[in-house]
Amino acid sequence: MNHIAEALAPFGTTIFAEITALAARHGAVDLSQGFPDFDGPDFVKKAAIDAIDNHHNQYARTAGIAPLNRIIAHNWHARTGIEIDPDTQVTVTTGCTEGIAAALLGLLNPGDEIILFEPYYDSYPALTARVGATPRYVALRPDASGRFTFDPDDLKAAFSDHTRAIMVNTPHNPTGTVFDRSELECIADLCRSRDVIAITDEVYEHLVFEGAHIHLQTLPGMDERTITLSSLGKTFSLTGWKVGWAIASEELSRAVRAAHQFITFCTATPFQHGAVAALGAPASYYERFVAEYRSKRDYLCDSLVRIGFKVRPPDGTYFILADHSAFGTGDDVAFVRRLIEEIGVAAIPPTSFYAHPEHGRSLVRFAFCKREETLRSAVARLEALAR
Ligand SMILES: Cc1ncc(COP(=O)(O)O)c(C=O)c1O
Repeated sequence: MNHIAEALAPFGTTIFAEITALAARHGAVDLSQGFPDFDGPDFVKKAAIDAIDNHHNQYARTAGIAPLNRIIAHNWHARTGIEIDPDTQVTVTTGCTEGIAAALLGLLNPGDEIILFEPYYDSYPALTARVGATPRYVALRPDASGRFTFDPDDLKAAFSDHTRAIMVNTPHNPTGTVFDRSELECIADLCRSRDVIAITDEVYEHLVFEGAHIHLQTLPGMDERTITLSSLGKTFSLTGWKVGWAIASEELSRAVRAAHQFITFCTATPFQHGAVAALGAPASYYERFVAEYRSKRDYLCDSLVRIGFKVRPPDGTYFILADHSAFGTGDDVAFVRRLIEEIGVAAIPPTSFYAHPEHGRSLVRFAFCKREETLRSAVARLEALAR
C-alpha cells in the first residue's frame, strides 16, 4: 500500500540513495554524491567537541545562536558592504536544504508559480509540489563554448501574473556555471518589474575558479526581494553537519522563520558553535581551499578529455558535467549503469535533475570533492573506456 502523500509520490527515492547502493554493491570508486571523502579542518571539529564538553547541548535560539548570527552578518558586511541586523535578518537553518524548505513553505501559496532553472537541485521541484505551487522551467543549455546559460527570452516568457518567486543557484550544480553580472541583471530586472522574490542557493559561493561570485541580493533593488541561502558543508568539507543560513530583509526573514520554527525549531547547538569557528577562518583558508580544488578539477577534466569525454571545465562547484556520447552507450542511466557495473566508477545520471530529461541524456556528472588517490584510481578504471 502506498502511504506517500500524493504530491511527493512522483519523486520516488532520490537518485543519490539509488546510486550509492549500486556503487557499494559493485565496489565502485564513488564520484557520485557531492561530499568529500576527507575530513573538515581540525580547528572547526575541535570547536564543536569543546561545545559538547562545555554543556552547549540543549535547544538553541530558533534563529541561531547569537555569535553565529553575528559572524554571518559580519562576513556578509565584509563581502558586500551591506550592514544587516544579525538578530532579525539572519536565520540559521539545518543545512541549505532546510533553508530551501523553509523559504518555499514560508513564502508560497497553492497556485503560486515559481521559476526553476533546469537542471536543478532535486529538492526544488519536490518542495514546490508539496506546497502546491506550480514550477515554470527555464532550461540552461550549453552555448558555443559549452558554458551552460539561459536564453533571456525564455526567462521572460516564464514570468506570469502568478509568479511569486524564482530559485537561482549560483555557482550552479551540476553545470558549474557561475552566473555573470549580465545574467544576474537580467534576472533582477524581471524580479523588479514583475514584483517577484528571488531565492538564491549559494552553497558553492567559495568554490569559484573563473570569474567572481556575485550575490544577486547586492544588485540594485534586490536587497528587499532576495533570500540568500548558503551553508557550511561544502566550504568546510563538513556536509554531515548540516549548518546553513538564510540572509534576508526582516520581512522576508519572518516568512522563512514562520516555517523554520515548525520544521526543525533550531539547528544542532554544538555544530553551530563549530560553525562560529569555521566562519572566523582567515582569507588564507579560502585561498588554499580553492587552489586544492582547482588542481583536482584540472586533473579530472584533463583525464576525462583524454579518455574521450567532451568536457568544459566548470567555472565553479566541485562537479564536472561531461558528455558521454562518444562511447555510444545509450542514455545517461544506461551509461552510469555500465560505469558502475563494468568500469567500477560511480557517477550521477543527470536526467534526474531535469523536468525535460531529453536535455540531459548525453550527460554524466562526476564529483571531484575526493582525495587525490580516489581521483587517480577512478581515472585508472575509466581508462578502460578509451581502450
Ligand atoms: C545546489 C545545492 N544546494 C543545496 C545543497 C545542500 O546543502 P546542505 O548540505 O547545506 O543542505 C546541495 C548539496 O549537494 C547543492 O548542491
